[in-house]
Amino acid sequence: MKKYYITTPIYYPSDNLHIGHTYTTVAADTLKKFKRAQGYDVYLVTGSDEHGQKIQEKAKEYNMAPKQYVDGIVKDIKKLWNMLEVEYDEFIRTTDECHEKAVQKIFEKLYNQGDIYKSNYEGLYCTPCEAFWSESQLIDGKCPDCGRDVHLAKEEAYFFKLSKYKDRIIELYKERPDFLQPESRKNEMLNNFLNEGLEDLCVSRTSFDWGIKVPFDSKHVVYVWIDALLCYITALGYGTEDDEKFKKYWPANVHLVGKEIVRFHTIIWPAVLMALDIDLPDKVFGHGWILFEDDKMSKSKGNVIYPEPLIELYGIDAFRYFLLREFSFGQDGSFSREKFLQRLNSDLANDLGNLVSRTVTMVEKYNGGILPKAVKEDEIDKSLIEIAVNAGTKVEQNMDKLNYSQALEEIWKLVRRTNKYIDETTPWVLAKEEDKERLDTVLYNLTESIRIIAILLSPFMERTSKDILKQIGLKQEFSWEESKSWGKIESGTKVQRGEVLFPRLDIEKELVRLNEANQKLIEERGNKKVEEKKVESEEVVEEITIDDFAKVQFKVAEIIEAEEHPKADKLLILQLKVGEETRQVVSGIKKYYSPEDLVGKKVVIVANLKPIKLRGVESKGMVLAAEKDGKLTLVSTLEDIESGATIS
Ligand code: ME8
Ligand code: MG
Repeated sequence: MKKYYITTPIYYPSDNLHIGHTYTTVAADTLKKFKRAQGYDVYLVTGSDEHGQKIQEKAKEYNMAPKQYVDGIVKDIKKLWNMLEVEYDEFIRTTDECHEKAVQKIFEKLYNQGDIYKSNYEGLYCTPCEAFWSESQLIDGKCPDCGRDVHLAKEEAYFFKLSKYKDRIIELYKERPDFLQPESRKNEMLNNFLNEGLEDLCVSRTSFDWGIKVPFDSKHVVYVWIDALLCYITALGYGTEDDEKFKKYWPANVHLVGKEIVRFHTIIWPAVLMALDIDLPDKVFGHGWILFEDDKMSKSKGNVIYPEPLIELYGIDAFRYFLLREFSFGQDGSFSREKFLQRLNSDLANDLGNLVSRTVTMVEKYNGGILPKAVKEDEIDKSLIEIAVNAGTKVEQNMDKLNYSQALEEIWKLVRRTNKYIDETTPWVLAKEEDKERLDTVLYNLTESIRIIAILLSPFMERTSKDILKQIGLKQEFSWEESKSWGKIESGTKVQRGEVLFPRLDIEKELVRLNEANQKLIEERGNKKVEEKKVESEEVVEEITIDDFAKVQFKVAEIIEAEEHPKADKLLILQLKVGEETRQVVSGIKKYYSPEDLVGKKVVIVANLKPIKLRGVESKGMVLAAEKDGKLTLVSTLEDIESGATIS
């Protein structure tokens, strides 16, 4: 199987990510699902970039240790990725011990071979951006990235010989035109940085200590960008004893990044890799920004759009669809709630939702819900079939260029063509005329086209894709390639009308609802932040009432099967018998129990926990365990009792 390695940036642990932040990750996850559908062995890395002065100062504000401060935020970031059903394979934190050790080893190697040397730095420093600037780079005397004040700073520092790699980088852009996409960003790099000549890069700091220590000079910490970029290889085990994944997946097929960090990924990163004699990634793609009414989203401007209300009110698929369809990936785009709701109505409710429900209704009405056979073809069918079997290739061509929006448009061409086919063939007239053979054929063609649409949608809208297949009565799984041939549905299965895929929305009403939900969140998050953090740091245990306790349902469950999670090295997948019911629970106990030890054991579970997916596997409930000082044991009852027994 061919491998495919994708990375998102390693995110700063900022409080509450907004929809702009979800853009890179949703795009990366969609690419993963697309490549996987095509048969690749895909690996997706994301993570958090936790060191640096900014974080250290923030933590101090809250009276917390930096690690304690970032732990809470990282938990929230993971929660958001889970909510969006992002299936990353590894979440690397720059505070992970294996990463820190690998970075130290790499730093020392570069020093020993002369690519890093010690000198003095004097320049204009922007604290929030943690960047030194030259006078000429400033815009109106302020930091060119964030527009804030800079101040003069001088420190003893280590430098990376970036200047040495300038020619090779220019060469790289020439020899491998795909290395940096879109094209316009290449000119930006050449004109703004490379052609002017590169200065060596300051890669250590002494003005704060929240970072990875330079191993042979511990008053210096490693510059955050060197630290963070190296995640792309340390996440695969580079620099550790177990570098199997590195050997398998590196070089990255694509680093997806926002446009403001292209410079780090296409100048500094290749230079570091060259110095380490490691292969370069195939491609860096710098996507545009999502703006709010043409303005940069920011908490201080009070114009942030949070993803949670959009997801909670309209679903993951609608949210992901909108992000990838509305904006052209390489360019900036402006978010507005109107645009969001209009697209939901036009593309999802009208085009897609209607097509599925009209078809299912007609199969029910005209053929008792049973999928008929195609027996009487007509000229008119040809153009539908042609568009349908070619759509997959068109999606591929666009996805190869990371043109998500056009890839989706190709699917919608088929959706709209299929709707038009209903109007052209007028099944209700065929029914009246009792042309059963032709009617059967039309119904078959409609469901067949919908089958293809569902396959093509699977990387973009996993849930909707499954739901559609279920509604047209198909139980078998289809491969991506099977979207390219016609006549795959076996007739005779029964359609299964489900809920409306996307209800039509009253835009005026929804605008108010959405605005209120977002506003409420802005206020909550603004107020709660400080208090919450303080409470956490003092480790106060909040008291609950008996009513709070009554909300939690504990039950005895018997483990009837246990197996390792295929994609996570800490998780086991358990099948539990709870009275009459069998349910699946994913539990992080693999380090402590082997699957065979568990079968037959009775444990205690929280039975009414909202189901979630853990690394792609559904978990319904939680197994209780006691833990102290690294020891863990499952909770059970004193005497044996039948599974399903409730605990109160
Ligand atoms: O830059 N529109 O992390 P980050 C589109 N730690 N994308 C946006 C956006 C918006 N309004 N706002 C943020 C960092 N993003 C570094 C990366 S990698 C070795 C280190 C995107 O948390 C942004 O462009 O500031 C970037 O791709 C991602 O969110 C994380 O940004
Ligand atoms: Mg940023």
